[in-house]
Amino acid sequence: MDNKAYTYSGEEIGHELADVPAADDGTKAGDIAVKIDDGPEGDAEKPTVVYIGLTREELLEYSDKTGWVVARWTILILLILGWFGILAGATYIMVSTPRCLPWWQTAVFYQVYPRSFKDSDNDGIGDMQGIEDKLDYFEDIGVQAVWMNPMYKTPGVDFGYDVSDYYEVDSTFGDMADFDRLLLTIKQRGMKVLLDYIPNHSSHHHAWFNESRLSVNNDYKSHYIWADPSCTGNPKDCPPNNWLSVWGGSAWEYEEDRNQFYLHQFLKEQPDLNWRNDDVKREFEEIMDFWLKKGVDGFRVSAVQHLLETEDYSKNELPNPEYEGNDTEEYNSLYHNLTKEYPGVHEIVQSWRSGEMDHYSTTGAYRFLTVEAHDSVDIVTSYYGVEREEANFPHNLNFLQIVDENGSGSGTRVKHHIDEWKEKMPEGSHPNFVLSNHDNSRIATRIGAGYARLCHVLLLTLPGSPTIYYGDELGMEDIEITQDILLDPAAKGDPAKSRDGARSPMQWTSERLAGFSNGSKTWLPVHPNYETVNVEVMEKDDQSILNLFKKLTSFRADEERVIPVGEMDYVIVNEDILSYTRAATLSGYNRYLVTMNFGRGGSTDDYFEQDDTLPIEGEVVISSHMDRNGDTVQLNKLFLQAGEALVIKI
Ligand code: GLC
Ligand code: MG
Repeated sequence: MDNKAYTYSGEEIGHELADVPAADDGTKAGDIAVKIDDGPEGDAEKPTVVYIGLTREELLEYSDKTGWVVARWTILILLILGWFGILAGATYIMVSTPRCLPWWQTAVFYQVYPRSFKDSDNDGIGDMQGIEDKLDYFEDIGVQAVWMNPMYKTPGVDFGYDVSDYYEVDSTFGDMADFDRLLLTIKQRGMKVLLDYIPNHSSHHHAWFNESRLSVNNDYKSHYIWADPSCTGNPKDCPPNNWLSVWGGSAWEYEEDRNQFYLHQFLKEQPDLNWRNDDVKREFEEIMDFWLKKGVDGFRVSAVQHLLETEDYSKNELPNPEYEGNDTEEYNSLYHNLTKEYPGVHEIVQSWRSGEMDHYSTTGAYRFLTVEAHDSVDIVTSYYGVEREEANFPHNLNFLQIVDENGSGSGTRVKHHIDEWKEKMPEGSHPNFVLSNHDNSRIATRIGAGYARLCHVLLLTLPGSPTIYYGDELGMEDIEITQDILLDPAAKGDPAKSRDGARSPMQWTSERLAGFSNGSKTWLPVHPNYETVNVEVMEKDDQSILNLFKKLTSFRADEERVIPVGEMDYVIVNEDILSYTRAATLSGYNRYLVTMNFGRGGSTDDYFEQDDTLPIEGEVVISSHMDRNGDTVQLNKLFLQAGEALVIKI
């Protein structure tokens, strides 16, 4: 059997199994047999291995039989149909599964003013350890992103908006290790952290300015905006032009060593950086890099509109035709087309977005950018970016205007401000709404405490992202500012212009200093209402405004397809009532009617008649006074007290 050539013999292949006799070697029907050609030695000695199967003719005969043909085609068609079915199913799943929403579109943003949140070292000023001690609270109230006002090294003239080192933490707040730990612990809880980014000006104590002011010949000579006196008399009396600072008075300060003036659009302790200087641009890219690398999730760019001015310092700004007063030192008396919104600013924001911000954005760690601009809605919304992306959204501070000079809101007024933003933002953009911040009086003070609950319902049921200023969730009100406690430099000695009122310590408990500090005194006084308006008391009270706030944030989180990104249609809107429905753009989600009464008296209205898509009754899921939750209400005669708001499932 050595050296056998193994071949398949044509004769043997194709015998019916039954015809095959058992061979000498034991091969029998049913075995798969192969004939092995053993060479020329003679047939008798050949071991016979037989292959059993169909002959070609037989195969052909079967393949033509109708039964087999039908069977074959049926299998083929089923396979093709199955394949198409799988394809269609997969496509349907892909199309009908809603895309994941980016974190900044669903988050409730919470603004923390570090000086006033929680003092851990008893100096009467809040600090980072204090914030870290309160992380449970953030989770408790259901916020997902924390924006911290500046904690960089600062002389504190503008309470942190005058930075002397962008890479250092001010010792008032702790040190870099405290910051790193705070960042880590916030992020471990799945929340995001935003910092202020302050590119328009530094502190006059920044190392760059210390150099820059010395001479016209040093590495930092053009880090700031310097201009020659405009006349030859006493140079101090010859500022380059008539430009005014935002808080009044000349925007120029004379520097003897250079015999030049430097520009400061805010305080003289805040010299404006020169954004036409590539070194300055690079410095600020590096600053962004530094904090992004640490894991910061984004920035709020401060005073972005003031980044650039005309380079022709001989030009005066023209009088503002709309100004009615007669104070020539007053910022509003001039029209600021040479110093604000100057061409080129948007390109700078674009470059941050497409540069550092995109560079550090990864799947699951998108870096977010917002800007602060005070202007008409047209101009503010242009910071979304017209052709190229800029901010994810510019803060909608225009929404503060829902309250008029008399401290009233109204359905029509609020609708106007909602619509104006939505209409003017670029198509497909994500709206956002703000009712208070550290530069303005608190919402509860402006609209009156009786309407603060309604404002929560409004802010948290509008489309887009809300930003809540610390303490607003409790309905905290401004403290009264008198001459003796006035601190805000922007007020220039006038308590009425002070922003201090909205910056008072957070009210945690009914204890001394509202549980904010165990020191002897706080940097600004605690509001006298702290014994009733505080976290501890309100947590225990099921009907408190704080528990309303929590209910709203958890409702928002449960209904993220309906509230942050869903559709909104008005129902009844008049002086008193603002009402709208909220629904997802996809089917299969709940639909709600939100209604609120800004009026001074109760109001009974027929929503059912107004909107034929509404049912006759619905279930209250959130009642602003927390006393009608779960009630079934008739939509054809629905009563709301003054200042009351309801979210009704329909
Ligand atoms: C930003 C801050 C404000 C500060 C100003 C000038 O606008 O919000 O508090 O005073 O910049 O630095
Ligand atoms: Mg402290």
